[in-house]
Amino acid sequence: MTKIYPISYFRDQYINFTDANLSIASSPMLYGLSSYSVMPIYINTNNSSPYMFRLADHFNRLKNSAKILSFDDFLEEWNEKKLEQVIKTLVNKNKIKKDAMVRITIFTDGILSGTKMIGIPHKLAVFIYDYQPILPLSGASLLVSSWRRISDNAIPARAKINGGYVNSSLIKNEALSFGFDDAIALDDNGHITESSVSNIFLVKNNQLMTPSTDNDILEGITRDTVRQIADDLNIICQAKPLDRTELYTADEIFLSGSSVSITPVIKVDNRNIGDAKPGSITQKISNSYNQLTHGQLTDKHHWLTRV
Ligand SMILES: Cc1ncc(COP(=O)(O)O)c(C=O)c1O
Repeated sequence: MTKIYPISYFRDQYINFTDANLSIASSPMLYGLSSYSVMPIYINTNNSSPYMFRLADHFNRLKNSAKILSFDDFLEEWNEKKLEQVIKTLVNKNKIKKDAMVRITIFTDGILSGTKMIGIPHKLAVFIYDYQPILPLSGASLLVSSWRRISDNAIPARAKINGGYVNSSLIKNEALSFGFDDAIALDDNGHITESSVSNIFLVKNNQLMTPSTDNDILEGITRDTVRQIADDLNIICQAKPLDRTELYTADEIFLSGSSVSITPVIKVDNRNIGDAKPGSITQKISNSYNQLTHGQLTDKHHWLTRV
């Protein structure tokens, strides 16, 4: 079982995780009316201190989600500094000494208020849990899902809406039921989107390719980190629509996400990817990601915030 730390933040207070509960008649319970982000905390190998990774980008994504969902009171009440203070307090109160994940949720705090989001208060819930890779880092097997990714005009993926994650659950469940680790969903035009909770990169002829943001993907913060790392390593990376069969013919594939880091993919639909082993470009990107997040490379983008 993944360890959840005992002190959480809920409705403007620091309280025990076990007391931070919502009613069975609440809007998130009845309709999934909430939005979230998961931000990693990495222990720096130089000074053993915890650092938040890309806090500004996580806050910006939450802000954009709040805009899409008309959570106007969140936009008025919260800013990056205030969120930083809450997370620092939680990291200190919980004495975080290992890599961990911070789950930040903005929820519609209504009771039996129907599907309404406007005019109902929006509150923040934050808790921390231990980082544990959710896919085999030695190489994952993927299925191309029979489920389509929800489109921007149905439930926008870029708003990271909790209710929309039923789509991810269907995709993941299908993969597990057929003996795969995860699955890739296609968009309504048959292009590759992403897996249940991570973005995807293909390597072909020593270049990287990833679906573009108009392919109904979440604009992953790790995806952006990978693109910057590729730039630093002089590896060309293109974001563009990709066909299903480009998966089968890729030299290497990997997934990126806060909860999967950089996970190599060694099989898709029972076809080997490359030699069915993590490829050399995947390993380079993965090494750089691990070094960067743990303070072993210069933080030239100012992505790390010391707690
Ligand atoms: C659907 C989906 N795609 C991609 C990602 C990766 O995003 P990030 O790199 O910001 O963690 C996530 C992460 O939760 C996700 O849920």
